[in-house]
This record gives sequence, structure tokens and C-alpha cells, in this order.
Amino acid sequence: MIKVQINLEDKKYYIFLNHNIFDYIARFHKKNYPGCKAIIITDNNVKKFYLKKLEDKLTFQSIKVNSYSVLSGERSKSFKNLEYLSEKIIKKGINRNDIIYALGGGIVGDLAGFLSSVILRGVKFIQIPTTLLAQVDSSVGGKTAINSKLGKNLIGTFYQPSAVFIDPNTLSTLPRKDLLAGYAEVIKYSLIDDKIFFDWLNKNVKDNLSLTTEKIIKVISTCVKKKAKIVKLDEKEKKSRMLLNFGHTFAHALENELNYKTRHGEAVSVGMLMAMKLSCNLGYAKQKDFNLLETHLKRLKLPIKLNNLSDKKKWLSKDILDKMQKDKKSYKGNIQFILCRGIGSAFIKKNIDNAIVKKTIEEFLI
Ligand SMILES: NC(=O)c1ccc[n+]([C@@H]2O[C@H](COP(=O)([O-])OP(=O)(O)OC[C@H]3O[C@@H](n4cnc5c(N)ncnc54)[C@H](O)[C@@H]3O)[C@@H](O)[C@H]2O)c1
Repeated sequence: MIKVQINLEDKKYYIFLNHNIFDYIARFHKKNYPGCKAIIITDNNVKKFYLKKLEDKLTFQSIKVNSYSVLSGERSKSFKNLEYLSEKIIKKGINRNDIIYALGGGIVGDLAGFLSSVILRGVKFIQIPTTLLAQVDSSVGGKTAINSKLGKNLIGTFYQPSAVFIDPNTLSTLPRKDLLAGYAEVIKYSLIDDKIFFDWLNKNVKDNLSLTTEKIIKVISTCVKKKAKIVKLDEKEKKSRMLLNFGHTFAHALENELNYKTRHGEAVSVGMLMAMKLSCNLGYAKQKDFNLLETHLKRLKLPIKLNNLSDKKKWLSKDILDKMQKDKKSYKGNIQFILCRGIGSAFIKKNIDNAIVKKTIEEFLI
């Protein structure tokens, strides 16, 4: 079992990483929260594969369980679901000591995390991420959110889980496109500060992303350790945590342009290339870094152009720029970019000439 500690000023918790972890989760609950109910939130896909397994392990330890499921998809991160789940859970009975479990991908994690932070003014919650994206990124660090009609993740809290349990075996049922979307976030970590990790990924991650047992553990644990370090330094995203948004300023605008009908990780794939290209256009990075990244993404069949995200959409650079200026991390239209001085060397930059940004976007239209 790999254990990574998240050490924050007013909270410490562990991320547990191992194959076949469900038994351990039930024993952990029994030991740490005796007499407390487990409230599981999942989605309709994950329910089919893992809900009964988790329920059985918990009830075997004589833990009372109530489970709730939402539809899969970004639309589930909504006020409607927050209300639906809150009313159901309150009606069934919830106590301040009970534990909410988020069993699923980033969508279930963000929704269940937000719900946990407000129901009864906050109850403990535990993440059991079942997508690669959630295992390497969204389940760690305590960002929770639902979407507003005006944009993604605009309503949310910083609310840390009490533990995160990662079982890489759950990835065996994940559709390939979702696995790849999660892999985009893996690459992101290497681009931020670890060229050696990028080279390792380039060498070890084969075109079909079929990773051996040890390699997937190495991928997940490397990312989780990196995230733990960054979150410890800057829990509330005042400065260094923003580096985790490499490629995301572009990606959020692209997702918004597509009405969230694309996978987050797919938009991140194009967004990272755009951030790299902007870094080149501003003279910070070299074309060879761009080429290395593009070739790696291409080999994995991750999107590298806007048309790879949707060939139906008529893309306009001014619309994308406009969405970026409205991003929650922009201030008075001044976009905050994460750029890099090459692979493994990201930094924050404001006050970039919009004309250069627009020109960069246009390079991805063809
Ligand atoms: N809180 C954060 O720090 C943070 C960070 C990054 C992304 N996010 C959010 O995460 C969300 C995306 O998360 P995601 O990519 O995990 O998407 P997701 O939760 O929609 O999962 C992708 C798909 O896989 C299915 N699925 C999940 N696990 C499965 C499994 N083991 N087997 C079979 N099917 C499975 C889901 O039902 C869904 O259809 C976005 O809303 C994004 O904003 C949050």
C-alpha cells in the first residue's frame, strides 16, 4: 500500500493507493468512524461496476449504508442534483458524524464534495476516484464545485476529504477515451516541473496506454505526490497551485464553447499545446518542446487541434478569447496564463498582448 500524506495547516489526511482496496476501505471506516453511517454517492455507470462491491464490504463490517446515484455527465454538477441529493439524504436521516463517500470520476467527486461541505454545515467525506483523471488530480486537494449556467465550477468550496482511496483496478472498466482524457492531466504534471517524468512517460507509455501494474502505480503515485506538494504550499490557490492550471485557461474556454460536450481532459490536451505554442510565440519555449509534446499527444491519439474536439463547430478565435477573459481567474479581462520555458518549467504570466493570444489560437484552427 502506498500512503501519501496531505499535510495542511488545519488538516492532515492520507491518500491510499493499492490494487483491490475496497476491503481496506471498510476496515478503515469501522476503525476510524465506529457507529457512523456510510452515505455513498455515485453515478449510473460506476454503480453498475462497483457500488454493490463497496456496499457489500461495508455491510460485512456491520456498517449501515445508504446509496444514491446521479446520471453520468457534466450536467450532473448542478443545483438540481445538489437539492435532490440533499433532500433525499436528509429525509433518510444523516448525522454530523456520518461519512459521505464519492464513488466515481471527477464529476461525482466535485458534486459529492460540495454537498458534503454544505449539508449540516459540513460532514466528513471520502473520495474513491474511479477515473484516471480523478485518481491523479480531482480527488486530491479539496476543490469542490457545481456548474453555473454561466460557466463551469463557478459555485464551490475548498473542502478537504478525510481520506482518498485509489484502486487502479477500477480503470479496467473505464472507456478508453476517458482513460486518455485522464492521461492528459498526467502529462500536465510533467510539463509543470518534471522533464524526467515527461521523458519516462514518452518512453514507457505505449500508444495504447496499456500500462503494467507497476507502471500505473508509478504514474498515479508520482502525480499524487506532486499534487500533495503543491496543495500543501498553496491550498487556496493564491499562487503556486495555479501552475496546475497549465493548459486549463484555454481548455475551459474550449469546453464552454462546446457546451461541455467534450471531455475535460480532451480539452486540456489541446489547451496544453496552445499554452506551449503561446510560450514559443512569446520566446519563452522552443519549437522542439512543442514538437515533443505534440508528437506524444498524437501517438496517444489525444486531440491536438480544435477540429479534433468537434468538426461540427465553427471555431472563432475571438469567441475563445472572449471566454478566456470571462474565466474566473481573469481580473478585469486580464487573463492569467500558465506558460513554460520548455517541458518541466512552468510559470505564471499576466498582461499578455491579446493579439498574440488570438494569433496563437488561430494556429489551431487549421
Ligand atoms: N476538483 C478538482 O480539483 C478537479 C480537477 C480536475 C477536473 N475536475 C472536474 O472533473 C470532472 C471530470 O472528471 P472525469 O474525467 O473523471 O469525468 P467523469 O466523472 O464524467 O467520468 C468519465 C466517465 O467515466 C464513467 N466512469 C467513471 N469511472 C468508471 C469506471 N471505473 N468504469 C467505467 N466507467 C467509469 C463515468 O460514469 C463517466 O461517464 C470535470 O467536471 C472537471 O471539472 C475537478
